[in-house]
Amino acid sequence: MDEEDSRAAQKRRAGRRAATFVADGDVVGLGTGSTAAAAIEALGDAVADGLSIRGIPTSYQSRARALEGGIPVTALDAVDEIDVAIDGADQVADGTLIKGGGGAHAREKIVDAAAERFVVVVDPSKEAARLSHPVPLEVLPSARPPVMDAVRELGGTPELRDAEAKDGPVITEQGNLVLDCDFGPIEEPAALARRLAGVPGVVEHGLFVGLADEIVVGGPDGVRVRTTA
Ligand code: A5P
Repeated sequence: MDEEDSRAAQKRRAGRRAATFVADGDVVGLGTGSTAAAAIEALGDAVADGLSIRGIPTSYQSRARALEGGIPVTALDAVDEIDVAIDGADQVADGTLIKGGGGAHAREKIVDAAAERFVVVVDPSKEAARLSHPVPLEVLPSARPPVMDAVRELGGTPELRDAEAKDGPVITEQGNLVLDCDFGPIEEPAALARRLAGVPGVVEHGLFVGLADEIVVGGPDGVRVRTTA
């Protein structure tokens, strides 16, 4: 098995374990990305076996995967609460996450934060002793220049995310831009999160502080589940 296959198998393991946290009747937040997709696939299998749930997608991708898997989808304004959300991450350290590699972190944060229980699914490559991955910012297009200046004042290096199969920048599902902001090793994620949230024009940043309840890590030989403090 090559490295990519084995990473995919680890993500599948994490997704399948996380799906077991979902109970009959639950409203489930459906994260975005390849690891969350593994959980959605497992939930689809469980629905085919009789589990009754409703999913709240965090992106076009997770909505499409849910519908493909036969999971009924609903919306935040149609439910009283979200019982559990399952979502991936780009990096995890001490229960704090950096998300937004797929540009979906604004809707992900709304759903993940609203859930009674937020379960994070990753493979071991996402674990770190300290966060250092660039922090994605979803930014109103007109605010790009002052937001880039504010990021530099906070010690970061912002880079406008370019699209891969389109000329020009990535445009989010809300019609905004994404800045990937490299702060190097982040000593105080909570303080940085507060500062970024206070910059006018920032719709949402990719630091998820104090939100995760469990981190499910799919490894080469099994799954580890860490409960955050
Ligand atoms: C989407 O914007 C992201 O927050 C993803 O959840 C994150 O990038 C993890 O994706 P993978 O599971 O594909 O690595």
